[in-house]
Amino acid sequence: MAAKKLLILPGDGIGVEVIGQARRIIDWLEKKRGISFEISEGLLGGIAYDKTGTPFPKDTLDKAMEADAVLLGAVGGPQWDNLPFDKKPERGLLGIRKEMGLFANLRPAVVFEELADASSLKSDLVAGLDIMIVRELTGGMYFGEPRGVETLPDGSRRGFNTMVYTTEEIRRIGKVAFEIARERGKRVCSVDKANVLECTLLWREEMTKLRDEEYPDVELTHMLVDNAAMQLVRFPKQFDVMVTENTFGDILSDCASMLTGSLGMLPSASWGAPDARGVRRALYEPSHGSAPDIAGKDMANPIATILSLSMCLRYSFGLTKEADMIDGAIKAVLKGGLRTADIMQPGKARVSTSVMGESIIRELDKLA
Ligand code: IPM
Ligand code: MG
Repeated sequence: MAAKKLLILPGDGIGVEVIGQARRIIDWLEKKRGISFEISEGLLGGIAYDKTGTPFPKDTLDKAMEADAVLLGAVGGPQWDNLPFDKKPERGLLGIRKEMGLFANLRPAVVFEELADASSLKSDLVAGLDIMIVRELTGGMYFGEPRGVETLPDGSRRGFNTMVYTTEEIRRIGKVAFEIARERGKRVCSVDKANVLECTLLWREEMTKLRDEEYPDVELTHMLVDNAAMQLVRFPKQFDVMVTENTFGDILSDCASMLTGSLGMLPSASWGAPDARGVRRALYEPSHGSAPDIAGKDMANPIATILSLSMCLRYSFGLTKEADMIDGAIKAVLKGGLRTADIMQPGKARVSTSVMGESIIRELDKLA
């Protein structure tokens, strides 16, 4: 088996620590499962700006294009807040999404049985929750032109962005959502603002057409985004797969992740189109941010990142067995009562980032 080429981008803040634990799992897979990785490392975000003057160096782009997959920690921190817009760490993240053509962002919101009490909602509303949010990631207002801030003749200023989608952009994200739904509950809820925004009326029409033409076996419903936000906190278990445009997806996925009470537990995947070999460009990262307030304290929860690695093994490397082992080891550790600070519950044992990593490896040893 050819070595799996993985580019690792630790990024900023707790990104470095949580990636450290994922690397231990990778070492374990090499030693105990005989899987060979070809690991490279690169700079992205604030650290990249500090070392090279740009949050997204060319070297990182080149490495990403050569890799079979990318594993990212997190980017950002207050020390970079006052940089010009194009130098901010977030531009690095948006840049790599755009350059790799990662148009589909998969954000599962899953409640772990052991953590159902940790939600801000009543536990019966969220127990067993399993939603997949499919967010369009390279279009809409995030990238639409024209954009900017201009000064008007009277000296006042005008800021503007453009929400724009083409048929092709809508269909390709729709396909990802319908394909995923086929592997799950076969229900897609497409979220838009078709009563106000023409762009998303087009979205609704194209989603309907695509379903009728290619996915008659999948149930499609439409929901306005304001209602979707409300329904997510009212009765979240009504959803299976939600598909939506970039900005709505940014907002709804944060909302959905909080329902689980465990942002530190949620992985994500960003996919591009399959290349000539049929391999999708892909980047995997935890759903949480760089958490500067706890960075460097060995406190962060590494589970979202380790689950992101598991998604990478499953979807990019075809290593289903190993992905299942990692998911199982994490469940076992939670069952055993170990908790990082973010998911701490009465009567459980609070552990550090590194002890959580070690404990997952111990469970892996048992499963191997
Ligand atoms: C996310 C983040 C990013 C986004 C920021 C950091 C640019 O909020 O991945 O959801 O808005 O997409
Ligand atoms: Mg966000």
